Amino acid sequence: MTGFDAATVRDNATRIFDKDAGTIEASAYVDPDIYRLELDTIFRRSWLFLAHETQIPNPGDFLATYMGEDPVVVARQKDGEVKAFLNQCRHRGMRLCRSDAGKASNFTCVYHGWVYGLGGELVNVPLEEPAYGTVDRAAWSARPVPRIARYKGLIFGCWDENAPDFVDYLGDAAFYLDILLDRSPAGTEAIGGIHKWVIPCNWKFAAEQFAADSYHALFAHLSAAAVTMPDGSYSADWGGNGFQFTSDRGHGTGFLLDAGRREMLTAFVGPEVARYAMEEGMDSAVERLGVARGQRIHAQHMTIFPNFSFLPSVNTVRVWHPKGPNEIEVWAWSLVDADASDAVKEAYRVGGLRSFSASGIFEQEDGENWVEIQRCLQGPVARDTTFHVGMGLGRSSIDDPDFPGELGWVFSEVAARGFYSQWQRLLTDPDAPLIPSTRREEARHAAE
Ligand code: FES
Ligand SMILES: [Fe+2]
Repeated sequence: MTGFDAATVRDNATRIFDKDAGTIEASAYVDPDIYRLELDTIFRRSWLFLAHETQIPNPGDFLATYMGEDPVVVARQKDGEVKAFLNQCRHRGMRLCRSDAGKASNFTCVYHGWVYGLGGELVNVPLEEPAYGTVDRAAWSARPVPRIARYKGLIFGCWDENAPDFVDYLGDAAFYLDILLDRSPAGTEAIGGIHKWVIPCNWKFAAEQFAADSYHALFAHLSAAAVTMPDGSYSADWGGNGFQFTSDRGHGTGFLLDAGRREMLTAFVGPEVARYAMEEGMDSAVERLGVARGQRIHAQHMTIFPNFSFLPSVNTVRVWHPKGPNEIEVWAWSLVDADASDAVKEAYRVGGLRSFSASGIFEQEDGENWVEIQRCLQGPVARDTTFHVGMGLGRSSIDDPDFPGELGWVFSEVAARGFYSQWQRLLTDPDAPLIPSTRREEARHAAE
């Protein structure tokens, strides 16, 4: 690799994706300079998922995670607030907290013993008086994550002090995110541990697929779906009725409506979950979300830009942590209605494991495709190839009575183009606002 010149890399990035033509260059997924710029711009500036509230319910509970490749600790404070800080000692840069999760009263660096409080504040320095005189505690505390947002059980963080509020960052995507989060007055609960595994592929393949790709399910998951559905119930006719939503902030979702809901739920997560979703939990969902979201939608997939994804009906939630241009670490777990019975929660947990976990039958098929793409991209000709991301070009609209925002057919790539538009905007312009000012959004705000 030659020297990194951000201006040159930005200039290249303007040509990598062409929204109007519906094309993307393969180098987007392998170029180490593009990857470095992604960390510096996209992950440095976007709102990133940190934890679910129920993963750190009590004072002192903490979780070690990542924002891009930066390690952070997110911790419940004594007053119930949540703080996050860079998981790095200010003395010589050692990783401060080396546990994945736990309960602590403070964090002591294993190298020379500097001690930090639950919020990352420096509270003790060994031999401080004879060795240093004094150390300015405030100046040498761990670097805080300056912006924290809590949204219906989810906790997000952002390094950019001037970033727009999280709900504005979500925009119309909140309507679709709530399908996962707001079915019950009790909210949601994260259950089981966090499954963590490595896939040798670029993070964007996973994030884009969850934003924008129902298409692959027709083929990549066909045999697995057919064998896990109730006998003889598989139908090729289910595919046509549904939408894909794209956001000017890069978020995306797709879903089917009506036909095949029980069969698909049964195939993905089992009959107990199908019964809960369509009977026991249905009234509350419809009351809170309306018929369109509470009853009709299924097989939904979604990404909140850049790397937080989930499947609402399977209730698997995951973060695609980038680990270089050719690798991700997936962190996945189940999120369930907090007031569901223990039996239903267990059915979600086991069904999620069977379908979308490291050993899950559908997850295996997705991962296999991403890995093979990345292997192909190691060749110089393969990484110098243009890919087609033009499905449904010019066919989206914004006037559906039930579903807000710009919508295409469920089998389109309108959300992929929205994802890459935001990706390219942040990559190529360090001063670009996190939320683009589009005429559509302006019209929406003017109407409010
Ligand atoms: S690196 Fe942490 S105390 Fe020295
Ligand atoms: Fe899939």
